[in-house]
Amino acid sequence: MLFVVGCGAAPVAAERAGAPPGPPVVDPEGEPAPPQPPPKDGRAALNTEYFLGSEAEEQAQFAEFARRIQELQKESSRSREQPLQRGFHAKSHACLRGLLHLERARDPRTRYGVFADGQPERAVIVRFSNGVGWKQSDVALDARGMAVKVLGVPGPKYLPDEPSTQDFLMTNSPTPVGRDAVEFMEFARANASGRVAELFFTVGHASTGALALSRTNPVDSMVTEQYWSGGAYHLGAHQAVKVTARPCDPALARHPDRSSPDYLRKDLAEAAHGGICMRLFVQIQADPELTPIENASRPWDPAVAPPLPVARVLLPPQEVPADAASTDACDAMAFSPWHSIPAHKPMGHINRARRYVYAASQDARRATPTRGPE
Ligand code: HEM
Repeated sequence: MLFVVGCGAAPVAAERAGAPPGPPVVDPEGEPAPPQPPPKDGRAALNTEYFLGSEAEEQAQFAEFARRIQELQKESSRSREQPLQRGFHAKSHACLRGLLHLERARDPRTRYGVFADGQPERAVIVRFSNGVGWKQSDVALDARGMAVKVLGVPGPKYLPDEPSTQDFLMTNSPTPVGRDAVEFMEFARANASGRVAELFFTVGHASTGALALSRTNPVDSMVTEQYWSGGAYHLGAHQAVKVTARPCDPALARHPDRSSPDYLRKDLAEAAHGGICMRLFVQIQADPELTPIENASRPWDPAVAPPLPVARVLLPPQEVPADAASTDACDAMAFSPWHSIPAHKPMGHINRARRYVYAASQDARRATPTRGPE
């Protein structure tokens, strides 16, 4: 059963008073509607999540995925002789501090949640990472992650461990591997055992991961990449969006010496000396088929859902300490799409599963659960 910490069961949609039946009017400030049973005619509606099967089936599936991720963590730790760490994104390049600074001229449709009027700046911590659940050289094929934790965000949260944060997790592929968490977890198993190529070529539906897997080449720098949320999120209870971040200067180029297995950390430390600026955009769902919520492997074409700038992530000049204590502190943090207020509630099967899988991964890697950063 899903629960909302501190959120009442507020009604999410009301019929237009006295009007003929039509689409329900959704209160943007309310609690978003829960997922619906699968549509009988197979046609999805805008801003709507659908259970994969039934709610009970999903809950059983998610419990199984949580168990499986812990198994993979233990297996990776044993076979690679590394400490038990994140099920994915184990290697931190650095955690940097800065500000989320709202764009003054942002589209009125984007002014919800942390992008609402009233507080133009909030503190953030940004963790840059590699994708796999173990530490390996930065030249190995892999996805890259940028996780933004916005601090000082009031309002009810879906998870009890951090009372005032809003996280945005992104990787450098427009889509994740898999249309839903079932396919993603098959990938997770194949990835951990080094069978990705086999999965890629032999399992028909793994083609849904083709775009993500094609973007795993080594990168020049963490600060020249574009990052995407992959899954959909609410932006106010009445809209669905995807989030993307790219360098404020689209022409920014960096040419690091790749001879070190940790060249991305070194490059990030150098970039941080001069300050880093990433620009955050949202794409508003435009069409239930062309920009679907329940099939995360279909990219949202910017021609259909144009990216609207909402904020800058400003990381002022700072040192990236290379000592073990600072790396440990960065590793000990917990990011989750479910560190969220209702205005940014995660959507879609792939995101619903993450509520349980991230918690399981965090439990497994922490001797004692840690608190939030504030
Ligand atoms: C939908 C697109 C997805 C994106 C953009 C994404 C992105 C990320 C990022 C950036 C991190 C690192 C967070 C940090 O810095 O601590 C992360 C961690 C993780 N991801 Fe995902 N992810 C996605 C889907 C999934 C799915 C579907 C699963 C499994 C069902 C999954 C499992 C994990 C796990 C287990 C961790 C480590 C959690 C921890 O121990 O803190 N991810 N993900």
